[in-house]
Amino acid sequence: MTGDILERHERLSYADKIIMAPMVRIGTLPMRLLALEYGADIVYTEELIDWKLLRSTRKVNDVLKTIDYIDKTDGTIIFRTSPLERSKVVLQLGTSDAKRALTVAKLVENDVAGIDINMGCPKKFSILGGMGAALLKQPEKAAGILKTLVDGLSIPVTCKVRVFEDVEKSIELCKKLAATGISAIAVHGRTPDERPQHRNRNETLKTICASMDIPVIANGGSKEIEKYKDILQFKKDTGCSSVMIARAAEWNCSIFRSAGLLPIDEVIKSYLKLACDYDNSPSNTKYCIQNILRELQETPLGKRFLDTQTLEQICELWDMGDYCRAKAKEFSSLGYTGRFDVVP
Ligand code: FNR
Repeated sequence: MTGDILERHERLSYADKIIMAPMVRIGTLPMRLLALEYGADIVYTEELIDWKLLRSTRKVNDVLKTIDYIDKTDGTIIFRTSPLERSKVVLQLGTSDAKRALTVAKLVENDVAGIDINMGCPKKFSILGGMGAALLKQPEKAAGILKTLVDGLSIPVTCKVRVFEDVEKSIELCKKLAATGISAIAVHGRTPDERPQHRNRNETLKTICASMDIPVIANGGSKEIEKYKDILQFKKDTGCSSVMIARAAEWNCSIFRSAGLLPIDEVIKSYLKLACDYDNSPSNTKYCIQNILRELQETPLGKRFLDTQTLEQICELWDMGDYCRAKAKEFSSLGYTGRFDVVP
Protein backbone atom coordinates (compact mmCIF):
# COMPACT_ATOMS: atom_id res chain seq x y z
CA MET A 1 0.00 0.00 0.00
CA THR A 2 1.23 3.49 -0.84
CA GLY A 3 0.48 4.60 2.70
CA ASP A 4 3.03 2.13 3.98
CA ILE A 5 5.68 3.23 1.55
CA LEU A 6 5.29 6.90 2.42
CA GLU A 7 7.07 7.62 5.67
CA ARG A 8 4.66 8.98 8.21
CA HIS A 9 5.77 11.79 10.50
CA GLU A 10 4.26 13.02 13.69
CA ARG A 11 3.10 16.62 13.53
CA LEU A 12 5.72 18.86 15.10
CA SER A 13 4.83 20.31 18.50
CA TYR A 14 6.34 23.65 19.47
CA ALA A 15 5.55 23.43 23.20
CA ASP A 16 8.37 23.24 25.75
CA LYS A 17 11.16 23.20 23.18
CA ILE A 18 14.67 24.62 22.86
CA ILE A 19 15.12 25.82 19.31
CA MET A 20 17.96 27.03 17.11
CA ALA A 21 16.86 30.33 15.54
CA PRO A 22 16.92 31.11 11.83
CA MET A 23 20.32 32.65 10.96
CA VAL A 24 21.38 33.64 7.46
CA ARG A 25 24.50 31.69 6.37
CA ILE A 26 24.86 30.10 9.81
CA GLY A 27 21.78 27.86 9.77
CA THR A 28 22.89 25.62 6.91
CA LEU A 29 22.77 21.82 7.11
CA PRO A 30 25.99 21.08 9.09
CA MET A 31 25.16 23.60 11.83
CA ARG A 32 21.55 22.41 12.05
CA LEU A 33 22.64 18.78 12.43
CA LEU A 34 25.25 19.77 15.01
CA ALA A 35 22.62 21.68 17.03
CA LEU A 36 20.40 18.59 16.97
CA GLU A 37 23.33 16.40 18.00
CA TYR A 38 23.95 18.70 20.98
CA GLY A 39 20.32 18.60 22.07
CA ALA A 40 18.31 21.29 20.27
CA ASP A 41 14.72 20.09 19.84
CA ILE A 42 13.95 22.03 16.66
CA VAL A 43 16.21 23.80 14.16
CA TYR A 44 15.19 26.60 11.79
CA THR A 45 16.85 27.08 8.42
CA GLU A 46 18.31 30.41 7.42
CA GLU A 47 15.73 32.68 5.81
CA LEU A 48 15.17 31.56 2.22
CA ILE A 49 13.61 34.10 -0.11
CA ASP A 50 10.50 32.71 -1.81
CA TRP A 51 11.32 33.65 -5.40
CA LYS A 52 14.80 32.12 -5.09
CA LEU A 53 13.39 28.78 -3.95
CA LEU A 54 10.79 29.06 -6.66
CA ARG A 55 13.44 28.94 -9.35
CA SER A 56 15.04 25.79 -7.90
CA THR A 57 14.79 22.13 -8.79
CA ARG A 58 14.49 19.40 -6.16
CA LYS A 59 17.08 16.69 -6.54
CA VAL A 60 17.81 13.64 -4.40
CA ASN A 61 21.55 13.31 -3.85
CA ASP A 62 22.14 9.56 -3.52
CA VAL A 63 25.76 9.86 -2.49
CA LEU A 64 25.39 12.47 0.27
CA LYS A 65 21.93 11.15 1.17
CA THR A 66 20.51 14.65 1.01
CA ILE A 67 17.74 16.45 -0.79
CA ASP A 68 19.05 19.44 -2.67
CA TYR A 69 17.14 22.42 -4.03
CA ILE A 70 19.34 23.63 -6.85
CA ASP A 71 19.13 27.02 -8.54
CA LYS A 72 18.09 26.44 -12.16
CA THR A 73 19.98 29.51 -13.32
CA ASP A 74 23.44 28.98 -11.80
CA GLY A 75 23.47 25.51 -10.23
CA THR A 76 24.07 26.75 -6.67
CA ILE A 77 22.47 24.89 -3.79
CA ILE A 78 19.76 27.07 -2.29
CA PHE A 79 18.68 24.54 0.34
CA ARG A 80 20.22 21.21 1.31
CA THR A 81 18.46 19.01 3.84
CA SER A 82 18.80 15.48 5.14
CA PRO A 83 16.12 12.97 6.13
CA LEU A 84 17.93 12.92 9.52
CA GLU A 85 16.48 16.34 10.33
CA ARG A 86 13.16 15.86 8.52
CA SER A 87 11.01 15.74 11.65
CA LYS A 88 12.75 18.69 13.35
CA VAL A 89 13.60 21.22 10.69
CA VAL A 90 11.51 24.31 10.07
CA LEU A 91 12.09 26.20 6.85
CA GLN A 92 11.91 29.97 7.22
CA LEU A 93 10.62 31.86 4.21
CA GLY A 94 11.04 35.50 3.36
CA THR A 95 7.95 36.55 1.47
CA SER A 96 5.55 39.38 0.75
CA ASP A 97 3.01 37.40 -1.21
CA ALA A 98 0.58 34.74 0.02
CA LYS A 99 0.22 32.91 -3.28
CA ARG A 100 3.93 32.75 -3.95
CA ALA A 101 4.62 31.65 -0.37
CA LEU A 102 2.15 28.77 -0.73
CA THR A 103 3.59 27.66 -4.07
CA VAL A 104 7.07 27.52 -2.55
CA ALA A 105 5.93 25.91 0.69
CA LYS A 106 4.17 23.19 -1.35
CA LEU A 107 7.46 22.53 -3.11
CA VAL A 108 9.26 21.70 0.16
CA GLU A 109 6.30 20.45 2.19
CA ASN A 110 7.36 16.80 2.22
CA ASP A 111 10.96 17.49 3.15
CA VAL A 112 10.52 19.68 6.26
CA ALA A 113 8.56 19.59 9.52
CA GLY A 114 7.22 23.14 9.41
CA ILE A 115 7.17 26.47 7.60
CA ASP A 116 7.96 29.79 9.29
CA ILE A 117 7.44 33.26 7.91
CA ASN A 118 10.00 35.92 8.74
CA MET A 119 8.14 39.00 9.99
CA GLY A 120 10.96 40.56 11.96
CA CYS A 121 13.90 41.28 9.69
CA PRO A 122 14.55 45.06 9.70
CA LYS A 123 17.16 44.99 6.90
CA LYS A 124 16.69 47.28 3.91
CA PHE A 125 16.53 44.35 1.46
CA SER A 126 13.58 42.85 3.36
CA ILE A 127 11.71 46.09 4.01
CA LEU A 128 11.99 47.28 0.40
CA GLY A 129 10.70 43.91 -0.77
CA GLY A 130 7.70 44.17 1.58
CA MET A 131 9.08 41.22 3.61
CA GLY A 132 10.29 40.77 7.19
CA ALA A 133 9.45 43.65 9.54
CA ALA A 134 7.52 45.40 6.74
CA LEU A 135 4.74 42.89 7.45
CA LEU A 136 4.44 44.13 11.06
CA LYS A 137 3.02 47.34 9.62
CA GLN A 138 0.56 45.41 7.44
CA PRO A 139 -1.20 43.02 9.83
CA GLU A 140 -3.94 42.21 7.30
CA LYS A 141 -1.45 41.15 4.70
CA ALA A 142 0.63 39.26 7.28
CA ALA A 143 -2.43 37.37 8.49
CA GLY A 144 -3.45 36.69 4.88
CA ILE A 145 -0.11 35.01 4.15
CA LEU A 146 -0.36 32.84 7.28
CA LYS A 147 -3.99 31.88 6.65
CA THR A 148 -3.21 30.87 3.06
CA LEU A 149 -0.37 28.65 4.30
CA VAL A 150 -2.33 27.14 7.20
CA ASP A 151 -5.21 26.27 4.85
CA GLY A 152 -3.02 24.97 2.07
CA LEU A 153 -0.38 22.93 3.90
CA SER A 154 -0.37 19.66 5.79
CA ILE A 155 2.55 20.76 8.02
CA PRO A 156 2.44 23.36 10.81
CA VAL A 157 2.98 27.05 10.11
CA THR A 158 4.60 29.61 12.42
CA CYS A 159 5.88 33.17 12.17
CA LYS A 160 8.65 35.13 13.83
CA VAL A 161 7.92 38.72 14.81
CA ARG A 162 9.45 41.57 16.80
CA VAL A 163 7.70 43.59 19.50
CA PHE A 164 6.40 47.16 19.41
CA GLU A 165 7.17 49.66 22.16
CA ASP A 166 3.47 49.55 22.99
CA VAL A 167 2.85 46.20 24.70
CA GLU A 168 -0.89 46.23 23.96
CA LYS A 169 -0.20 46.76 20.27
CA SER A 170 2.18 43.77 20.34
CA ILE A 171 -0.46 41.57 21.96
CA GLU A 172 -3.07 42.71 19.45
CA LEU A 173 -0.80 41.78 16.55
CA CYS A 174 0.16 38.40 18.02
CA LYS A 175 -3.50 37.55 18.61
CA LYS A 176 -4.45 38.56 15.09
CA LEU A 177 -1.73 36.33 13.68
CA ALA A 178 -2.60 33.46 16.05
CA ALA A 179 -6.21 33.59 14.86
CA THR A 180 -5.07 32.36 11.43
CA GLY A 181 -4.45 28.92 12.90
CA ILE A 182 -0.65 29.03 13.19
CA SER A 183 0.87 26.48 15.56
CA ALA A 184 3.18 28.85 17.47
CA ILE A 185 4.63 32.34 17.31
CA ALA A 186 8.27 33.25 17.89
CA VAL A 187 8.72 36.71 19.39
CA HIS A 188 12.04 38.57 19.46
CA GLY A 189 11.90 41.03 22.36
CA ARG A 190 13.25 44.02 20.44
CA THR A 191 11.48 46.54 18.23
CA PRO A 192 12.44 46.71 14.53
CA ASP A 193 14.52 49.83 15.30
CA GLU A 194 16.45 48.23 18.13
CA ARG A 195 19.81 46.58 17.56
CA PRO A 196 21.23 43.37 19.09
CA GLN A 197 23.11 45.35 21.78
CA HIS A 198 19.86 46.83 23.12
CA ARG A 199 18.39 45.02 26.09
CA ASN A 200 15.75 42.43 25.28
CA ARG A 201 12.26 43.33 26.50
CA ASN A 202 11.74 40.19 28.59
CA GLU A 203 8.87 41.73 30.56
CA THR A 204 7.02 42.46 27.28
CA LEU A 205 7.57 38.84 26.27
CA LYS A 206 6.17 37.76 29.61
CA THR A 207 3.00 39.80 29.11
CA ILE A 208 2.57 38.50 25.57
CA CYS A 209 3.07 34.88 26.65
CA ALA A 210 0.49 35.25 29.40
CA SER A 211 -2.08 36.53 26.87
CA MET A 212 -1.68 33.85 24.21
CA ASP A 213 -3.33 30.47 23.70
CA ILE A 214 -0.70 29.03 21.35
CA PRO A 215 2.94 28.32 22.31
CA VAL A 216 5.02 31.50 22.35
CA ILE A 217 8.69 31.02 21.54
CA ALA A 218 10.78 33.64 23.34
CA ASN A 219 13.79 35.00 21.47
CA GLY A 220 16.45 37.65 21.98
CA GLY A 221 18.15 36.47 25.16
CA SER A 222 21.61 35.52 23.83
CA LYS A 223 23.43 38.44 25.48
CA GLU A 224 22.69 36.83 28.84
CA ILE A 225 23.08 33.22 27.68
CA GLU A 226 26.53 31.81 28.38
CA LYS A 227 25.61 28.33 29.51
CA TYR A 228 22.72 25.86 29.25
CA LYS A 229 21.27 26.93 32.60
CA ASP A 230 20.90 30.50 31.27
CA ILE A 231 18.53 29.16 28.59
CA LEU A 232 16.31 27.79 31.34
CA GLN A 233 16.55 31.12 33.20
CA PHE A 234 15.49 33.01 30.05
CA LYS A 235 12.54 30.64 29.74
CA LYS A 236 11.61 31.32 33.34
CA ASP A 237 12.07 35.10 33.04
CA THR A 238 9.76 35.29 30.03
CA GLY A 239 7.32 32.62 31.17
CA CYS A 240 7.29 31.34 27.58
CA SER A 241 6.48 27.86 26.37
CA SER A 242 9.68 27.56 24.32
CA VAL A 243 12.89 29.45 23.69
CA MET A 244 14.79 30.19 20.51
CA ILE A 245 18.54 30.84 20.53
CA ALA A 246 20.53 32.57 17.78
CA ARG A 247 23.85 34.22 18.68
CA ALA A 248 24.74 32.00 21.63
CA ALA A 249 24.45 29.03 19.22
CA GLU A 250 26.34 30.83 16.46
CA TRP A 251 29.28 31.36 18.88
CA ASN A 252 29.21 27.93 20.46
CA CYS A 253 26.62 25.47 19.25
CA SER A 254 27.18 23.21 22.26
CA ILE A 255 25.08 25.71 24.23
CA PHE A 256 22.28 23.19 23.56
CA ARG A 257 24.03 20.50 25.63
CA SER A 258 22.39 20.03 29.00
CA ALA A 259 25.70 18.46 30.14
CA GLY A 260 27.51 21.74 29.54
CA LEU A 261 29.42 23.80 27.01
CA LEU A 262 32.31 22.19 25.06
CA PRO A 263 35.60 23.91 24.17
CA ILE A 264 35.33 25.59 20.78
CA ASP A 265 38.07 23.44 19.20
CA GLU A 266 35.93 20.40 19.89
CA VAL A 267 32.86 22.14 18.47
CA ILE A 268 34.79 23.15 15.35
CA LYS A 269 35.99 19.57 14.82
CA SER A 270 32.47 18.19 15.09
CA TYR A 271 31.22 20.92 12.79
CA LEU A 272 33.96 20.16 10.24
CA LYS A 273 33.09 16.48 10.26
CA LEU A 274 29.55 17.38 9.23
CA ALA A 275 30.82 19.94 6.71
CA CYS A 276 32.80 17.08 5.06
CA ASP A 277 29.94 14.58 5.31
CA TYR A 278 27.66 17.01 3.46
CA ASP A 279 30.23 18.63 1.16
CA ASN A 280 29.45 22.06 2.58
CA SER A 281 30.92 24.90 0.54
CA PRO A 282 34.32 26.15 1.79
CA SER A 283 33.04 29.75 1.92
CA ASN A 284 30.05 28.84 4.10
CA THR A 285 32.17 26.58 6.28
CA LYS A 286 34.72 29.35 6.73
CA TYR A 287 32.05 31.91 7.58
CA CYS A 288 30.57 29.69 10.29
CA ILE A 289 33.98 28.97 11.84
CA GLN A 290 34.89 32.67 11.71
CA ASN A 291 31.82 33.34 13.82
CA ILE A 292 32.90 30.70 16.32
CA LEU A 293 36.47 31.99 16.50
CA ARG A 294 35.56 35.69 16.65
CA GLU A 295 38.46 37.53 18.37
CA LEU A 296 40.57 34.33 18.22
CA GLN A 297 41.05 35.11 14.52
CA GLU A 298 43.90 37.32 15.79
CA THR A 299 45.83 34.29 17.12
CA PRO A 300 48.48 32.49 14.97
CA LEU A 301 45.99 29.65 14.27
CA GLY A 302 43.30 32.21 13.48
CA LYS A 303 45.59 33.95 10.98
CA ARG A 304 46.43 30.66 9.25
CA PHE A 305 42.71 29.93 9.15
CA LEU A 306 41.98 33.23 7.40
CA ASP A 307 44.39 32.20 4.62
CA THR A 308 42.55 28.96 3.86
CA GLN A 309 40.50 28.52 0.71
CA THR A 310 39.48 24.87 0.52
CA LEU A 311 37.63 22.59 2.88
CA GLU A 312 40.73 20.41 3.04
CA GLN A 313 42.90 23.36 4.11
CA ILE A 314 40.42 24.33 6.82
CA CYS A 315 40.21 20.73 8.03
CA GLU A 316 44.00 20.41 8.13
CA LEU A 317 44.17 23.11 10.84
CA TRP A 318 42.02 21.02 13.18
CA ASP A 319 43.68 17.66 12.33
CA MET A 320 40.76 16.70 10.13
CA GLY A 321 42.63 16.67 6.82
CA ASP A 322 42.68 12.86 6.63
CA TYR A 323 38.96 12.71 7.32
CA CYS A 324 38.24 15.25 4.59
CA ARG A 325 40.36 13.36 2.03
CA ALA A 326 38.81 10.02 3.00
CA LYS A 327 35.31 11.44 2.49
CA ALA A 328 36.26 12.92 -0.85
CA LYS A 329 37.64 9.56 -1.93
CA GLU A 330 34.57 7.71 -0.73
CA PHE A 331 32.23 10.10 -2.55
CA SER A 332 34.26 10.04 -5.72
CA SER A 333 34.25 6.22 -5.76
CA LEU A 334 30.47 6.47 -5.70
CA GLY A 335 30.52 8.67 -8.76
CA TYR A 336 29.98 11.95 -6.94
CA THR A 337 30.60 15.03 -9.00
CA GLY A 338 29.89 17.69 -6.38
CA ARG A 339 32.15 20.51 -5.46
CA PHE A 340 34.54 18.67 -3.15
CA ASP A 341 37.74 20.54 -3.62
CA VAL A 342 40.42 18.07 -2.61
CA VAL A 343 42.27 15.72 -4.90
CA PRO A 344 41.31 12.26 -3.69
C1 FNR B 1 19.84 36.50 12.57
N1 FNR B 1 18.47 36.68 12.75
C2 FNR B 1 17.60 36.21 11.79
N2 FNR B 1 16.23 36.23 12.02
C3 FNR B 1 15.38 35.69 11.14
O1 FNR B 1 14.17 35.69 11.40
N3 FNR B 1 15.84 35.14 9.98
C4 FNR B 1 17.16 35.10 9.67
O2 FNR B 1 17.54 34.56 8.62
C5 FNR B 1 18.08 35.68 10.58
N4 FNR B 1 19.43 35.71 10.32
C6 FNR B 1 20.32 36.02 11.33
C7 FNR B 1 21.69 35.82 11.14
C8 FNR B 1 22.59 36.04 12.17
C9 FNR B 1 24.05 35.77 11.97
C10 FNR B 1 22.10 36.52 13.42
C11 FNR B 1 23.05 36.77 14.58
C12 FNR B 1 20.75 36.76 13.60
C13 FNR B 1 17.94 37.13 14.04
C14 FNR B 1 17.92 35.98 15.04
O3 FNR B 1 17.12 34.91 14.59
C15 FNR B 1 17.40 36.44 16.42
O4 FNR B 1 16.10 36.94 16.29
C16 FNR B 1 18.27 37.51 17.07
O5 FNR B 1 19.66 37.27 16.88
C17 FNR B 1 17.99 37.61 18.56
O6 FNR B 1 18.17 36.37 19.23
P1 FNR B 1 19.49 36.03 20.10
O7 FNR B 1 20.69 36.25 19.20
O8 FNR B 1 19.53 37.03 21.22
O9 FNR B 1 19.33 34.65 20.58
